[in-house]
Amino acid sequence: MSQEAELRAKIVRMGSLLYNRQLAHGSAGNLSVRLDDGSILVTPTNSCLGFLEPERISKLTPAGELLSGDPPSKEYFFHMAVYEERPAAKAIVHLHSTYSVAASCLCHAHTGNALPPLTAYHVMRVGKLPLIGYYRPGDKALADAVRAASREHRAMLLANHGPIVSGSSLEEAVYAYEELEETAKLYFIIGDRKASPLTAEAIADIDRAFPS
Ligand code: 13P
Repeated sequence: MSQEAELRAKIVRMGSLLYNRQLAHGSAGNLSVRLDDGSILVTPTNSCLGFLEPERISKLTPAGELLSGDPPSKEYFFHMAVYEERPAAKAIVHLHSTYSVAASCLCHAHTGNALPPLTAYHVMRVGKLPLIGYYRPGDKALADAVRAASREHRAMLLANHGPIVSGSSLEEAVYAYEELEETAKLYFIIGDRKASPLTAEAIADIDRAFPS
């Protein structure tokens, strides 16, 4: 099977997994992967991630022109911005999952990191999670904000919207997204109780042991 056929099938499988795990609902969210030749496969706009069809997935040139498939996600431009800034990124997951979106609707004192480092896996898979200001879905101005944050971060949180997570494969991006959602859930379960996040020393130790 060609790389493109494999990746189309993988997008369908992962979309279904995320939908069945209730991390995606309705037609919210979008997934993309970058092929070895630089072209991008991205889920079509208004598609339900639970019922994707491989041949209808949009294929774009590295410059964002539609080569085949249905019209792409209205947010394809921020996928392109992340790929341009992160050469090692091969996949991107953007969803509107409940706990992460709830976190994105809070007033944050520290916009450099919207969630505390509660667990080692959050630090390993997600890292710091900057909060990006609110933009209307599909607003091209969002690309510049996403581009700037993606220079240093593999994950970010769009205010009143949801996370964007990149990875070196679709599995890696999905697993990191799931970790982020679990941390957001823990954050709300802990609520007003005094949490004990990982110390700076513990985080440095994790970064040394598992460099990203
Ligand atoms: P698309 O259906 O255009 O991908 O938009 C969905 C979405 O998640 C908007 O934020």
